[in-house]
Amino acid sequence: MLTVSSIADLRTLVKKWRREGDRVAFVPTMGNLHAGHLKLVDEASKAAERVIVSIFVNPSQFGPGEDFASYPRTEDDDAKALASCSVDVLFLPKADAMYAEDHGTSITVDKLSALHCGLSRPGHFAGVAIVVAKLFNIVQPDMAFFGEKDFQQLAIIRRLVRDLNFDVEIKSVATVREADGLAMSSRNNYLSSEQRKCAPELYRLLCSARDKAQKPESQLGEIQREAITTLKSLGFEPDYVSFCRTSDLEPASEQDSELVLLAAAKLGKTRLIDNLIFSRYARH
Ligand code: PAF
Repeated sequence: MLTVSSIADLRTLVKKWRREGDRVAFVPTMGNLHAGHLKLVDEASKAAERVIVSIFVNPSQFGPGEDFASYPRTEDDDAKALASCSVDVLFLPKADAMYAEDHGTSITVDKLSALHCGLSRPGHFAGVAIVVAKLFNIVQPDMAFFGEKDFQQLAIIRRLVRDLNFDVEIKSVATVREADGLAMSSRNNYLSSEQRKCAPELYRLLCSARDKAQKPESQLGEIQREAITTLKSLGFEPDYVSFCRTSDLEPASEQDSELVLLAAAKLGKTRLIDNLIFSRYARH
């Protein structure tokens, strides 16, 4: 595995691979890699001859007062973990190469960015959109891999790719969970041991809400309200629990059948997100 920091060097390498007829799969990350990231890498290596993983803690997707400064940076361990996977290049761009001092371009993916996490993290998805667009322009991958855990991010990236005609196939990979159900996330490192014990309750609650939604007389609004109350009683500070249509992440009506149950809640200072994708028999 080669480690490359220069954008120009990465471009030269990718052009060479392309001349040789190799396809390029790309896994963008912010590092502190866990089994969820390694699953993305594994899927990428099955899909293309060449795999590039980037690690860049993107300042523009963190709001004021968020955890940019304390976000875990574990490049040496990450590089070791990747070296034992089928990765050709670890791309580690420098912040000043990614963002010129007078960087002045922004991308807003309307509607989708304003919902759910977008309400409590203004500017977050614009930061994700710009860095993903820049990384796609630099890497020029044939395909890029994202986890379903960040379901709203995934939907926004799909929309971005469609709207701006990026020639990149977006591949999603199912959430990887700890044995107790907690979705893997770099932010789980912030949890105290007490909070860590409580954290899987979020997933259990989503499973129970989904099961309730399958019952014939169930009302989605009522299940959401109950879930919020339960989360509070468990010591979470819920942001939202919302049954949505998978197609546009708008609130699901009783008639919709392809749903995702999205949730975000704080446990102490740690913001956890999770979701469940499921089909529900449409009510008429
Ligand atoms: O999901 C992430 O780790 C980040 O949001 C991403 C897509 C790498 C952009 O910085």
